[in-house]
Amino acid sequence: MTDTDTIATSKLLPATTGFEQAIDGKQVKLFYLKGKNGMQAAITNYGGRVVSLLVKSANGKMVDVIAGFDNLKGYQQSSSNYYGALIGRYGNRIANGKFKLDGKEYSLFINNAPNTLHGGKVGFDSKVWDAVQPNEHTLELTYHSADMEEGFPGNLDVKVTYTVTRYNSLEINYEAKTDKPTFINLTNHAYFNLNGAGSGTILKHIMQINADEYTPVNKDLIPVGKVASVKGTPFDFRAPLPIGDRINDDNEQIKFGHGYDHNYVLNHPNTQVPVVTVIGDQSGLIMKVFTTQPGIQFYTGNFMKGDFKMKGDQPDAYRTAFCLETQHYPDSPNQPAFPPTLLEPGKVFKSVTLYQFERK
Ligand code: GLA
Repeated sequence: MTDTDTIATSKLLPATTGFEQAIDGKQVKLFYLKGKNGMQAAITNYGGRVVSLLVKSANGKMVDVIAGFDNLKGYQQSSSNYYGALIGRYGNRIANGKFKLDGKEYSLFINNAPNTLHGGKVGFDSKVWDAVQPNEHTLELTYHSADMEEGFPGNLDVKVTYTVTRYNSLEINYEAKTDKPTFINLTNHAYFNLNGAGSGTILKHIMQINADEYTPVNKDLIPVGKVASVKGTPFDFRAPLPIGDRINDDNEQIKFGHGYDHNYVLNHPNTQVPVVTVIGDQSGLIMKVFTTQPGIQFYTGNFMKGDFKMKGDQPDAYRTAFCLETQHYPDSPNQPAFPPTLLEPGKVFKSVTLYQFERK
């Protein structure tokens, strides 16, 4: 990449000025990352949000594949959409905001009646993280969540490292330690549009999910406890299909989710073979997702309502972005059959997720 390229593409990234503000005595900033092969990212330490990802498309143009804002205020106003954010302590829902641990019942804030969603009243998405940028590819974010913050036991220390790699991927490494047994489920809530943020709906993107099963939910989006085969349902993306082909099917699960808002049981969570492959129908950009997590929440922007002006003055219109939140299954603390989300003192929780980009 030449210097001229760098300057040209940098102009596509939001300016730092929209993000510089102190919240509760902590400085919010926007950080730029770049990979050796041209990919660039902008990430803020406000909720660890991925603001922009610039990727080269088939015709050589840089495309920003992240639906987001060019200022902090946009993120604060749209907080219930969790745009681009790190999610914790517990990503996704906990039924009735309650769980038992070592015989004691814990109660959480109900922010998605009748459940707790994405950590409670003030989740990790709205915290100012401490940030260190050891080199131009990497951003290290840390957050100390005090014992009983949002009703969860244990002092929890979380470290999330974002790296833009030479292989055109955004790699996210998660680590957490606690001093008391506690439940955690850490993820990122980036909203993608591979044709470019603000370029219309994602319904024609081609989606492939390497999952034979998913976790069906009740009307409040809590898993009913069993895993079900995707075969013969609108949830079968084992062969590549446009996202929108079956999104309005007369199917109870689709109705409960107002579209896709479901957890897939990944066949082979790993960092070698993609768990998901998505293609932007107009850009030809391909995104491959790799993760060590057992599940992924596929969400089709069903609650995007066009209420907020995003980058480039585009509204956050209905289904103009999708999320692939790598995670443990929803409500795992109350569902003993699901892979465990208990973290104990002396152990280190670790997971890694990669969003890798290629062109056709
Ligand atoms: C997750 C949830 C959705 C919704 C979005 C944000 O994907 O499962 O129901 O809350 O976050 O709006």
